[in-house]
Amino acid sequence: MGFDGFSESHPFLSAEAMQGNLELCFQLEQYLAEISGFDQVCLWPAAGSHGELTGMLIIRAYLTAQGNPRKKVLIPDSAHGTNPASAAICHYDIVPVKSNADGEIDPHEIEKLMNEDVAALMITNPNTLGIFEENFKKIADIVHAKGGFIYADGANLNALMGVVKPGKIGADVMHFNLHKTFATPHGGGGPGAGPIGMCDKLAPFRPTPVIVQKDGKFALDGNRPQSIGRVKAFWGNFGMLVRAYAYIRECGSLGLHNITRMAVLNANYIRKRLEGTYHVPYAKPVLHECIVNDKIQNQYGVKTLDIAKRLMDYGYHPPTVYFPLIVPGAMMIEPTETENKQLLDEFCDALIAIANEAKETPDVLKNAPTKTFRRRLDETRAAREPKLRA
Ligand SMILES: Cc1ncc(COP(=O)(O)O)c(C=O)c1O
Repeated sequence: MGFDGFSESHPFLSAEAMQGNLELCFQLEQYLAEISGFDQVCLWPAAGSHGELTGMLIIRAYLTAQGNPRKKVLIPDSAHGTNPASAAICHYDIVPVKSNADGEIDPHEIEKLMNEDVAALMITNPNTLGIFEENFKKIADIVHAKGGFIYADGANLNALMGVVKPGKIGADVMHFNLHKTFATPHGGGGPGAGPIGMCDKLAPFRPTPVIVQKDGKFALDGNRPQSIGRVKAFWGNFGMLVRAYAYIRECGSLGLHNITRMAVLNANYIRKRLEGTYHVPYAKPVLHECIVNDKIQNQYGVKTLDIAKRLMDYGYHPPTVYFPLIVPGAMMIEPTETENKQLLDEFCDALIAIANEAKETPDVLKNAPTKTFRRRLDETRAAREPKLRA
């Protein structure tokens, strides 16, 4: 990314003058297609949610071209909030699908809800509980049999990459979060990138322009009459594409496979270490992330928010809290592959020490954080009386 040819390239350059950039994008599309099992990949969406919107627009465009865009989209109750938002922006009514006691989607539930009014099922695998949807293929078959599509939310691809290809087990279109799975930090404050993979059937509707290779040169093809059009100015968030490309090249296929294994091992290690100290709502092995909650600490009047604030005193950025919504007081811990055993142990030790404080000196947690520049903010007042200017 630091090479002048990449960092200094002006968005208004002609295709002729940015052959290297186009080649990188062209190859990255092929790598992502190989990793995910999709026929084609489009790099332009700027975030996971933007990829969702793009994918759902493509599904709507396809169905419209067939004569009926349909009315509804099925979305599990464990889904990320961006899923229903994306479907709603595409004018679909949302039909929630209840997860079963194992935290998975039951094919019978889909059987009951699926009909010719349903355009798609948006499904995350592994889901936001970190649990692999074992019936994914069966569910996809039910949806396909009624002419619907599977939109796979691929934000959690770092649990599958190098092991399972969503495009080969029934997904029709999926976004990648390059800012989760492919090196750019998630929530790092900078831009992300949410490319989508899709099957050939949906590809005529993909955003323009499409990078094509002709006579040994790369060109931008905008002549796609059925395309949903442009979704992003210029060439997406190009820096993230360069970073993902470098990461994939650096790791290689075996490296990516090992990253997945480490991410899964790390999440399960944390789950096992915290089990008993914190309540684990779904007592089964997870993939890349684990969920615990504050059920045990509630008896001392301590809530997830207090635990998260106290973690800051121990020097940790708290994990995502109160999500997924189907777990009251959830703490979603996603260590990724990058943390080593010592760091995982230090983090677990901190959470276990906090659990002891919750029992013995709960006020310490309720007054946390105490070591930060700002103490705990009054979030209710901040929401009700927002002061938007200094
Ligand atoms: C499961 C899931 N879906 C979708 C998204 C949306 O991605 P983005 O924040 O890039 O819009 C996220 C983000 O974390 C996610 O975890």
